[in-house]
Amino acid sequence: MDRDAMKKAAAEAALDYIEYGDIVGVGTGSTADHFIDALAGIKAKLDGAVASSEASAQRLQQLGIPVLDLNTTGDLRIYVDGTDEATRHLHLIKGGGGALTREKIVAEASEKFVCIADDSKLVDVLGSFPLPVEVIPMAQSLVGRNIVKLGGVPVLRDGFITDNGNIIIDIQGLNIVDPVAMEAELNKIPGVVTNGLFARKPADLLILGGGEGISTLSRK
Ligand code: A5P
Repeated sequence: MDRDAMKKAAAEAALDYIEYGDIVGVGTGSTADHFIDALAGIKAKLDGAVASSEASAQRLQQLGIPVLDLNTTGDLRIYVDGTDEATRHLHLIKGGGGALTREKIVAEASEKFVCIADDSKLVDVLGSFPLPVEVIPMAQSLVGRNIVKLGGVPVLRDGFITDNGNIIIDIQGLNIVDPVAMEAELNKIPGVVTNGLFARKPADLLILGGGEGISTLSRK
């Protein structure tokens, strides 16, 4: 089975966690796209969705799933999204697609975060995948200098602007042994909108697609 088929299998397995009348928080990326496609098959069950990016909103709308504004829905019961890396503690690095801030907002508003991925995303220590940070453009150099002080190598994501009109700095060379502390440290730098560590509020369930089928990890 190839990686994309594993992502699709994980995405389809997440349907088991959707209930009648849900307004589903929906993530961004190729795995989330598989989830949106699967969600279309049960759209009659749903009251709608809240999207974590313009791209996901467009895909949901094209498939006839109403996209609602988080300001009108209140908290959600469930959020489903992919990840770039995950540990067994369900700490994540997200934002490879640049949607980390809206993803973190919708995840925060949701009672349960179901993370879907192929099993290559499971790691012992976060940081091999460059950690994305969304930054207000005028703070690019300031944030870069502070990232160096934290032991990372800041790399501007060339030609990329987020849905919120900001830039992304990807941090290379981190070995993130304390993701909760690193998430907080980075967010203290003025000009940082947010960073791609989901550790203060990790996923609640990780559904992994692999060669042997689906496996799930839940937070202790
Ligand atoms: C988007 O900003 C990311 O957080 C994605 O959720 C993450 O990059 C996973 O992407 P894939 O599902 O495409 O691997």
